[in-house]
Amino acid sequence: ALIVRHRMRCSGRWARAMAILKEFEEKCATPIGKLRQVADAMTVEMHAGLASEGGSKLKMLISYVDNLPTGDEKGLFYALDLGGTNFRVLRVQLGGNDGQVLKQEFTEVSIPPHLMTGGSDELFDYIASELAKFVASEGEDFHLPPGRQRELGFTFSFPVRQISIASGNLIKWTKGFNIEDTVGQDVVLELTKAMERQDLDMRVAALVNDTIGTLAGGRYTNNDVVAAVILGTGTNAAYVERAHAIPKWHGLLPKSGEMVINMEWGNFRSSHLPLTEYDHALDSESLNPGEQIFEKIISGMYLGDIVRRVLLRMAEEAAFFGDTVPLKLTVPFILRTPDMSAMHHDTSSDLKVVGSKLKDILGISNTSLKTRRAIVELCNIVATRGARLSAAGMLGILKKMGRDIIKEGEKQRTVVAMDGGLYEHYTEFRNCLENTLKELLGEEASESVVVEHSNDGSGIGAALLAASHSQYLEVEDS
Ligand code: GLC
Repeated sequence: ALIVRHRMRCSGRWARAMAILKEFEEKCATPIGKLRQVADAMTVEMHAGLASEGGSKLKMLISYVDNLPTGDEKGLFYALDLGGTNFRVLRVQLGGNDGQVLKQEFTEVSIPPHLMTGGSDELFDYIASELAKFVASEGEDFHLPPGRQRELGFTFSFPVRQISIASGNLIKWTKGFNIEDTVGQDVVLELTKAMERQDLDMRVAALVNDTIGTLAGGRYTNNDVVAAVILGTGTNAAYVERAHAIPKWHGLLPKSGEMVINMEWGNFRSSHLPLTEYDHALDSESLNPGEQIFEKIISGMYLGDIVRRVLLRMAEEAAFFGDTVPLKLTVPFILRTPDMSAMHHDTSSDLKVVGSKLKDILGISNTSLKTRRAIVELCNIVATRGARLSAAGMLGILKKMGRDIIKEGEKQRTVVAMDGGLYEHYTEFRNCLENTLKELLGEEASESVVVEHSNDGSGIGAALLAASHSQYLEVEDS
C-alpha cells in the first residue's frame, strides 16, 4: 500500500511538473503569423528611430561609417574588441591589392568579473595594459613606416552616441557591465587617457560597434554584404541605410549617399513578443530592468538562466528533483548557455551529458531518463523561441531594405554577415534560425538571401575602418 501511495504521489508530481512545462511552452509559442507581426513591428520601429532622436526604443544609432572597406586598405593596424566576457586585441598587416591580409595576430583575454561593475579607470587601465603588452610583442613581420604613430580600431559593443568616427559617449551599459562613471563619457577619451597612463603611443582612428565591425569585415571579402547580426552574449544588428532616409541626420549628405546604422535591436520591445512570467522575473532582477527585452529572450547571456528559472519552479512546485529543492538551482546565472547547449545536443541514448551537467553544475544526481528528456525539451523551447524571434528581426530589416521580395528581372544577392558565440556554437539555435528565415522569406526570396558566418569579422573590420580613417591617408593619397 505504501509503494502504491508513493507511486501515486510521484505521478501527481510528474503531472504537475509537465503542466508547468506545457504552460511555458504555450506562452513561448512563435507561430509564423506572430513572427510576421514581430517583423512588421521591427520595421515600424526602425522608421521611428530614424525619424527622430528618442523616437523609438530602437536607437538606430548613426555610426559615421559612410564608406565600407574596398580592399585597398594598406599598412599595419591594431584593433581592440570589448563587449562580452572576453576582450581581444589584434594586429593586422593589410596589403591592399583587393583585400590582402598579409599577416594577422591576436590574443584573447577574459575580463575579470569585478572589473565589469567597478570603476571606469580600473577597466580602461586593465584594457590598456593588456594592449600595451600585446604591442610590445610586435614582431618583424609587421611594418610601420618610420615616424608614424600606431593606429587602432576600437570595437566597443555597447550603445554609444557617436560625435564622429572616432569619438562617442556611452549611452548605457548592457550585458552585465555596470560602471556608473563611464555613462555619458567619451569612451575614446577614456581609452586614450588609459593608454597615456601606460605610456602607449597609439591613436584611436575609429570607434565602432561589433555589428559595424562585422559588417565592414564582411564587406571586405564579399561585396554583397549589406547587414550584420550578432548573436552572442548580447544581440544586435546593423545595416546600410540610404542617407536621405534618415530624417534625424542633419549633417552633410555623405558622398556615397549611404550611412551604416547600428540598430541596438537588443532594446526592441513589442506587445507581440511572447514574454512569460520567467522573463519578467529575469528582467526585474537584472542589472538593467526594463531594458534590452529582445536581448533578454534571445541572447547567450540569458538563455541558460531562463531554463534555470523554469526548472526552479518545477522543483519548488512539483518536486521535480525530489523532496528538496536543489540549493544551487536558486543561484542566478549558474546554468550558462553553453551548458544548456551541451544538454540540448546530447545524442546519447541515456542522455548522459544531461545527467553529468545536472550533477556537476547543480549538484543533482540520479535523475531518471524521463526527467532528462523533459530538460532537453525545456532547452528546446527556450532556444527555439530565441532563434525564431531572431529570424523575425532579420525579416524586419530585409523588409526595411526592400530585400524581402524578389523584384522583377533583378538578380540581387543579399548577404548578412553573422557573428557571435551563440550562432557559432549552438547548432540547434543556428539551424532553427536559418530554417525559420527560409520559412518567412518563402522559397524564391530565400535563395537570394544568404547568412554568412564571419569569424571575428568585427576585429578585422575595426582595423579596416581604422585604416580608412587613418591620419596619414591624405599624405598617402597625394
Ligand atoms: C548589446 C550591446 C550592443 C552589441 C550587442 C552584441 O546589445 O548593447 O551594442 O552590439 O550587445 O554584442
